[in-house]
Amino acid sequence: FLKAAMAASAGIAELIPSLPIETRCQPFHLRQLGGFWLPEMILPGVAAVHARFEPRPDDVFLASFPKSGTTWLKALAFATLNRDQHPPSDAGHPLRLRSPHDCVSFFELPFALAEGSGRAREDVFEAFPSPRVLATHLPYHLLPERVVAEGSGGRIVYVCRDPKDAFVSGWLFTKKKMAADAAKGNAGVPPPPYPLEQAFELFCDGRSVGGPQWLHVLGYWEESRRRPDKVLFLRYEDMLRDPAGNVNKLAEFMGCPFSGEEEAAGVVDAVVELCSLDSLKGSKGNRSGTTKLNIENGSFFRKGAAGDWRNHLTPEMAARLDEIVDGALQGSGFTF
Ligand code: A3P
Repeated sequence: FLKAAMAASAGIAELIPSLPIETRCQPFHLRQLGGFWLPEMILPGVAAVHARFEPRPDDVFLASFPKSGTTWLKALAFATLNRDQHPPSDAGHPLRLRSPHDCVSFFELPFALAEGSGRAREDVFEAFPSPRVLATHLPYHLLPERVVAEGSGGRIVYVCRDPKDAFVSGWLFTKKKMAADAAKGNAGVPPPPYPLEQAFELFCDGRSVGGPQWLHVLGYWEESRRRPDKVLFLRYEDMLRDPAGNVNKLAEFMGCPFSGEEEAAGVVDAVVELCSLDSLKGSKGNRSGTTKLNIENGSFFRKGAAGDWRNHLTPEMAARLDEIVDGALQGSGFTF
């Protein structure tokens, strides 16, 4: 599998039209690369990061399967790394004025957007000051070799979430996006139907953005076991239970641990508070505006709970997905 993924990623620009396609998922057409389903529109960006991105030893990559706490992790990493310049209690903190997606860019997306514009030949992050924090939804095995190579420097933080909650969060998010697009595009024409059952079938079959979700998680988990200094593996549910403990872990891993004085002065708690769901949801930057993909900033904040799948999936659906996931992960040593 690894060999196939790497062989495919070396020349994927030419390969895109020949990759298996999935048109039933919303809101993107997906193509299968190296065993994973990715939005077709992002694939030129994947080819470009492989060809042009120059990593630096102090880069931090925030990786996740969609709807697993990416936005939260972006906020926490940004607030932690930049706390000297932007104390978390500042009324004018960037995270109070802008979306976490403006503060921390996705890695493959600007490369994808640059393709087709005049900037396709550039490394779009070259001008970013160090240390750079970039986010990605790419599976571990599709990251550029220069980023993952032994001795390459640069660290990766992964956040994982129960697949049932990631699925439900994604389905609701997609429905909202489809409704918003329909309202903008053709007033009065409702969005196409996207029944839960259809999305669930596709998800169980691994057909979702970045799917199969459990293999996305497994790739990073295995690497975090092999190279704990390279990959920090966090769980969304643990972060909810113990946000301060996880912020401390994150800071240590990123090479900027909180000092005893900072802890005593309440800086860790201030980071947690600044990045809490309620604080981000209510902030100026998230009450309006959209991301580069025209997604409303506010739509990244909903319940922020563990186990909300119970309100949407039947016990039979949950048991079915659990069985698929458990079967696929058998022998790996990983469990959700
Ligand atoms: P729910 O839809 O279950 O509420 P992503 O950022 O990867 O798109 O994930 C979105 C999920 O993370 C949503 O889950 C959202 O509510 C939750 N989330 C966003 N910000 C959060 C925060 N600050 N704390 C906890 N959960 C958060």
